[in-house]
Amino acid sequence: MKEKLQKIRERAIAEIESAGGLDRLSEVRSAILGKKGELTAVLKGMKDVPPEDRPKVGQWVNETREAIEGILAEQTKRLEAQALRIRYEAEKIDVTMPSVTPAKGNLHPITQVRNQLIDIFASMGFEIFEGSEIETDYYNFTALNTPQDHPARDMQDTFYLSKEFLLRTQTSAGQIHVMEAKKPPIKIISPGKVFRSDDDATHSPMFSQMEGLVVDKGITLCDLKGMLDEFVKRIFGEQVTTRLRPSYFPFTEPSVEVDVSCFQCGGKGCKLCKGTGWIEVLGAGVVNNRVLAGCGVDTDVYSGFAFGIGIERIAMLKYGINNIKLLFESDLRVLNQIDD
Ligand code: DAH
Repeated sequence: MKEKLQKIRERAIAEIESAGGLDRLSEVRSAILGKKGELTAVLKGMKDVPPEDRPKVGQWVNETREAIEGILAEQTKRLEAQALRIRYEAEKIDVTMPSVTPAKGNLHPITQVRNQLIDIFASMGFEIFEGSEIETDYYNFTALNTPQDHPARDMQDTFYLSKEFLLRTQTSAGQIHVMEAKKPPIKIISPGKVFRSDDDATHSPMFSQMEGLVVDKGITLCDLKGMLDEFVKRIFGEQVTTRLRPSYFPFTEPSVEVDVSCFQCGGKGCKLCKGTGWIEVLGAGVVNNRVLAGCGVDTDVYSGFAFGIGIERIAMLKYGINNIKLLFESDLRVLNQIDD
């Protein structure tokens, strides 16, 4: 019996030591110590051992079992450590590898300028009014002192949708909606798309404007000039100033064309300002009393100023873009350069 146990023990140890993985080890364990294992069979055969020999044989079996379990535990530990090492090796990350930089997008230049303008005017206390792109002839023209057959209608080549409806040619239409809805004091800007049948290097059939309207007691052209000076400094730099030139718009009286002193040459004259030292940036004026009265504003008490800024024009000047089409072609080589 002792020999038999000795053999079991030697074979078990050899098999345990040669087991290459944890799966194999668990097979070996059940072949020896499992329910149908070799050593378990010996224990089951104890009933055939004469009673006086049983304590001794029992002790041998126990010693064999302990020895095998000890080696099994050691080998399990070794194989577990090996498995872990293999896993670590496979999952190793080289933290010194350069990372993949995700491509960064930016807002479209028109949106950037629009947001800059909104920030400037919002900081001066202007509220935003979002008008609609489809307007009636009344809001786009008639209420702005431009009735049917008024020669000023020729200034803007209009896309009519029907006799009554059109694609707005100017955000000025928003002035009327605001004044109809709200009593003065009024201080709004209204950014949005406008449409005209116009197409060349500096004109596009769809472009963006930002209208401004202030109506209150005692508003004059001086208030407009002061606000514009502040505006151009914020958008083009501290060194610039404005100049007002007489102009004509049906909805303002007097009307002005606003020039900014050339931010590129400082006013000496260069290619950008065509040698004049000044660059035209927007139209403005004192709101025509006919427009105010048409919206039910008491012109004995209130007066106002209005202005209309071309957003593409500001973007083109600010970023040195010479063709408006570059702003609508979605060419990333252009768009990536403008990230203010
Ligand atoms: N609506 C004019 C245009 O599109 C721009 C403009 C000029 C707006 C003078 C104004 C203004 O509010 O006072 O050409």
